[in-house]
Amino acid sequence: MTTATVPESWQRGRAFLGVRHAVMGGAMSWLSEHHLVAAISEAGGFGVLATGSMPVELARQEVRAVRALTDKPFGINLIVMNPALPEFVTMVIEEKVSHCVLAGGLPGKETIEALRMAGVKVMLFAPSLALAKRLVQRGADALIIEGHEAGGHVGPVSTLVLVQEILPHIREVPVFVAGGIADGATTAAMVALGAAGVQVGTRFVCATECIAHEKFKQRFIQAQARDAVVTVQFDPVLPVIPVRALFNKGTEQFNRLQLQLVQEVREGRKARGEAQLELEHFWAGALRRAAIDGDVEHGSVMAGQSVGMVRSIQSAASIIEELIERL
Ligand SMILES: Cc1cc2nc3c(=O)[nH]c(=O)nc-3n(C[C@H](O)[C@H](O)[C@H](O)COP(=O)(O)O)c2cc1C
Repeated sequence: MTTATVPESWQRGRAFLGVRHAVMGGAMSWLSEHHLVAAISEAGGFGVLATGSMPVELARQEVRAVRALTDKPFGINLIVMNPALPEFVTMVIEEKVSHCVLAGGLPGKETIEALRMAGVKVMLFAPSLALAKRLVQRGADALIIEGHEAGGHVGPVSTLVLVQEILPHIREVPVFVAGGIADGATTAAMVALGAAGVQVGTRFVCATECIAHEKFKQRFIQAQARDAVVTVQFDPVLPVIPVRALFNKGTEQFNRLQLQLVQEVREGRKARGEAQLELEHFWAGALRRAAIDGDVEHGSVMAGQSVGMVRSIQSAASIIEELIERL
């Protein structure tokens, strides 16, 4: 890849992230810890630390552990609905992390301002064009659009539709595309459509440097695209964010818990917010059970539809090489 042939949008993404390849390793709770993050960044991509439901001091240690392994840029992913968000923001500023991805909700103006005032670049998820415009006004330094194909918590609209809806109309900030991206041709296509880069999660699960349990990785290698299904919401009284995972007994367990919580909310025995938080805790625990402990039957095997294109365990560097080979 020579500089002369590099598309302008990709150049913009590389400059924004400060990396050779504008390939973000999407934060994955429990898995995007210092080994994987450092490996992706060392290979020229942009690793993003997941903080999920971890205590803030552990997240601080993780930041330092990444720095012990690489001097390349990386980012951190914070969950907006986490009651400890202000402490995380303070930690990110204290540790001088250069980029912060805010996920799992719409962050308040004060959160964005606090980070930006400290020189942290703020990256936000935009689920529609209207919201993308509002987020730019609110101070987002970059946006990520993530389609329904992705693994983990997902929105309702496909990547293909989101890129057409949003990419041509947002020029103010770089826009990265996530959800279902698994090969070089698709990365190149996204960049040709104006993406500043891509964010990939599912393919990095089977990176050699990823600490996922061997059984978790093997499920990924065996699975087909159609096995990665989204959960359904049973009753609008309890709105739930759909989660895409390989169907198993863990999915059935989630369904039972959701039914029980719907009943409790309907009968006024539990507040809606409390029930929603309980479901999120379920996912965090279930993902850990599968990804770290290796119980891929009862835990949650969160995976995107691109799981069908995960065929082997390879180094993060060779995954990135494949993702950029057509640029
Ligand atoms: C196992 C797993 C865990 C994830 N955890 C998080 C998370 O904690 N925070 C977040 O913002 N996104 C999370 N994601 C989404 C990824 O960061 C990324 O956006 C997504 O995987 C991209 O789509 P793909 O799976 O099709 O590559 C997760 C995805 C997976 C597969």
